Amino acid sequence: MFTKIEPFCEESVREAAQILKNGGIAAIPTETVYGLAANALDENAVKSIFTAKGRPQDNPLIVHISNFEMIKPLVVDVPKLAQKLAERFWAGPLTMIFDKTDVIPGVTSGGLSTVAVRMPANDAARAVIEKCGFPLAAPSANLSGKPSPTSARHVFEDMNGKIPLIIDGGECTVGVESTVICFNGDKIHILRPGGVTAEMLSEFAEVEIDKAVETAPKQDERVISPGMKYKHYSPKADVWIVKLRAEKFVKFCESRKDENAWFLSRGDYGKGFINFGETAEIQARRLFRLLREADENNIETVYVEIPDKSGVGLAVYNRLIRAAGFKVVDE
Ligand code: TXA
Ligand code: MG
Repeated sequence: MFTKIEPFCEESVREAAQILKNGGIAAIPTETVYGLAANALDENAVKSIFTAKGRPQDNPLIVHISNFEMIKPLVVDVPKLAQKLAERFWAGPLTMIFDKTDVIPGVTSGGLSTVAVRMPANDAARAVIEKCGFPLAAPSANLSGKPSPTSARHVFEDMNGKIPLIIDGGECTVGVESTVICFNGDKIHILRPGGVTAEMLSEFAEVEIDKAVETAPKQDERVISPGMKYKHYSPKADVWIVKLRAEKFVKFCESRKDENAWFLSRGDYGKGFINFGETAEIQARRLFRLLREADENNIETVYVEIPDKSGVGLAVYNRLIRAAGFKVVDE
């Protein structure tokens, strides 16, 4: 199959919608990462997503809507708290889990009785959903296990020959996937941190962070979000989080400068270092691209100065610790 990359415009939106209406799949930009979209209500279309990504069948997909009305047939009920969060954070990088209705096929929900719903803020994503008139299931448009794609070129690297169309909407502005939450009584339970932070959510209710966010799930441990148990975001390079800051980090890196390694620093540390970003927002935007570039440059090891875990930093840490397979260099 020939894979076209077309810029976001009326024509490419029409073409994507046509493909999706015919039960096909296409890649679309969102503000978080690029998504591989199919009609969320069409079992066979959704199955093609799993095939193209090589994704385990029990890992459920997020269902994307473009206006609030669209959620109604999909879920049993929208709790008051969820409604408030939707008013504040939709459209945007927040995914909420609801009890699903029969409208959502089992393949979309990975066999669960719940469904994850999000309303993306990206214009191209919204235009495609609007044109389709049905919700789109869309996981990140990478091969399963690889770093998520934050540009059309990244999608092309993983999906060339497997999908007919990628809409190019430029670099993703957030750079890490949406925050995924469920509700535990009156509490907000964060399953995956993202652009909508724990701090932002805590203005609405008590927030608890799933322990799988920072630590490795034990073998056979039951996890609420199936995506948490898989190895993730991994480049070929061996990634390490280095729990040393500033001068100590520099010293550590100098002792390893003869290795075929990249040293990602939280600022401009001069020759030999790659500036990963001074703020968590910048780090989030650069993370997946840098992991992919490390592989393009045949880098063996990537050492990363430990990010702050506040704000979007928790999302950066969560993706990094998985890319690192939970390996940390301690003092
Ligand atoms: O920003 C995003 O969310 C991107 C863009 C494309 O919208 N999508 C994305 O999808 O990251 P994906 O499939 O790569 O990640 C979905 C995550 C997985 O960890 C999955 O296990 C979890 O959401 N998830 C989906 N449905 C769920 C459910 N019903 N219960 C618990 N976790 C769920
Ligand atoms: Mg993903």
